[in-house]
Amino acid sequence: MTTQKPLLLALATGQASLLDEPVRMLIGGELADAASGATFPTYNPATGAVIANVAAGAAADVDRAVQAARAAFGHPTWAKLTPASRGELLWRLADLIQRDADVLARLETTNNGRPYRNTRNGDLPGIIKHFRYHAGWATKLHGTTVPVSTPNHFVYTVREPMGVCGCIIPWNYPLNMVSWKIAPALAAGNTVILKPAEETPLTALWIAELALEAGFPPGVVNVVTGMGETAGAALVAHPNVDKLAFTGSTAVGRKIVEAAAGNLKRISLELGGKSPNVIFADADVTAAARQAVWAILSNAGQNCCAGSRLFVQRHVADQVLDTVVSTMERLRVGNGLDPETQVGPLVSQEQLSRVSGFVAAGRDAGAELLLGGVRPAGVADGGFFLAPTVFGKVQDEMEIVREEIFGPVVCALEFDDWDELIARANDTPYGLASAIWTRDINKAHRFAQAIQAGTVWINTYNMFDPAAPFGGYKQSGYGREMGEAVYELYTQTKTVWVGLNGVR
Ligand code: NAI
Ligand code: MG
Repeated sequence: MTTQKPLLLALATGQASLLDEPVRMLIGGELADAASGATFPTYNPATGAVIANVAAGAAADVDRAVQAARAAFGHPTWAKLTPASRGELLWRLADLIQRDADVLARLETTNNGRPYRNTRNGDLPGIIKHFRYHAGWATKLHGTTVPVSTPNHFVYTVREPMGVCGCIIPWNYPLNMVSWKIAPALAAGNTVILKPAEETPLTALWIAELALEAGFPPGVVNVVTGMGETAGAALVAHPNVDKLAFTGSTAVGRKIVEAAAGNLKRISLELGGKSPNVIFADADVTAAARQAVWAILSNAGQNCCAGSRLFVQRHVADQVLDTVVSTMERLRVGNGLDPETQVGPLVSQEQLSRVSGFVAAGRDAGAELLLGGVRPAGVADGGFFLAPTVFGKVQDEMEIVREEIFGPVVCALEFDDWDELIARANDTPYGLASAIWTRDINKAHRFAQAIQAGTVWINTYNMFDPAAPFGGYKQSGYGREMGEAVYELYTQTKTVWVGLNGVR
């Protein structure tokens, strides 16, 4: 195999842009241009500059990748590998990610905008932990013996891989999303085709090269770069893909369910959110308000779990909002490669326009703009920046409360009592995450019971661990990633009946 790591390294370290030499896909262990020869530009969101042109894969390329993944799935070098050996490969991949963590973090920040301090010190250690956690699972995916009431029969189950898995991932946490998808898929013995978001295609390609270096056979991990409507749609519709895992918008999730009907491939969806972050007056109000800042501003608000509806009990609302606003005012917004930067740009001009549209809609609807809503001072001209933004005097029916904004914009809502709070917090089609801040242990657990969301945080926010299942209620999707639960997505159960009376 030839490698394009030197090109990506030059890009990540700012020594060159790759405008002359296109970034290629990785299919069947080989670098590949798109069959059409087409490319698309990818950007540095902090400057707005094009940093590389990337192969624009489409149906023909997806088809090649599916063939490579299918062949690898049946090939003895993968199909006959022992679970322990699969675990060792995953562990080795984790070691290689650790070796390359600096450059991976730089590449992630350069392409996504997320501050380097977060990619290097938060994401990468978490990703390494994630691969090691799943390395352990490879040897633990056992079936059961079943005590059937049918005489003279012995029944057992085995857990087998699904087969060829398509994984379509978003741009907000590209490396995390790669690891959440491929680590369990590989531990269970599947082969994968990754379709990274068109905004952030680079780090997935580096990981796929590391998988080859770790010793995964060619074709076990493939990456097809390209647009959602072409490459993504082709992967969803492909009759020879057994499972499709998607993270992204609820609108596209709905399209995927329809498009996958042809061969009834298994679908799992991690979609949008509009998570309630609730502060009761009996909480440590100052601490809760400071955490509310990061509940929304983590990744500049481009976070499916963002605490975007901040419910505050009325008589502490002024205190909370003062703390939120004064904390946000002091934050450094800028280029993520600057070690001082706390909040980076949005990922794209499209996302900036989308979020700015919501800010305008909030103002028009009469919400009170307490902070931000504008381009921050001192950032690069071409960068896709929006200052941290706080809306007060927000009404439940306003668009900024109903829709996922996916930017650094928080809506503060005041509440008086329990029943009202629960009804309003649940009044959303989404159900991904939620949080409560209180010192009352009964209230905390009653909230956990009453809220319709896949995750409840009590006196904490944005916590994830490879062992803790994660996923949505309602229109935030279905299927659980992480923990043992993720193996429901990447294995299927076979039941074996043994007649004990010999051949009948
Ligand atoms: P998107 O849902 O269009 O993109 C996510 C992934 O889906 C990308 O890889 C994209 O190429 C792919 N895709 C798009 N259309 C497809 C199709 N027809 N078939 C197959 N794959 C397809 O998200 P987008 O447009 O980038 O962002 C729009 C909004 O979606 C955001 O403002 C945010 O509200 C939400 N979103 C939520 C995410 C989450 O983590 N829950 C992640 C990204 C976006
Ligand atoms: Mg889209």
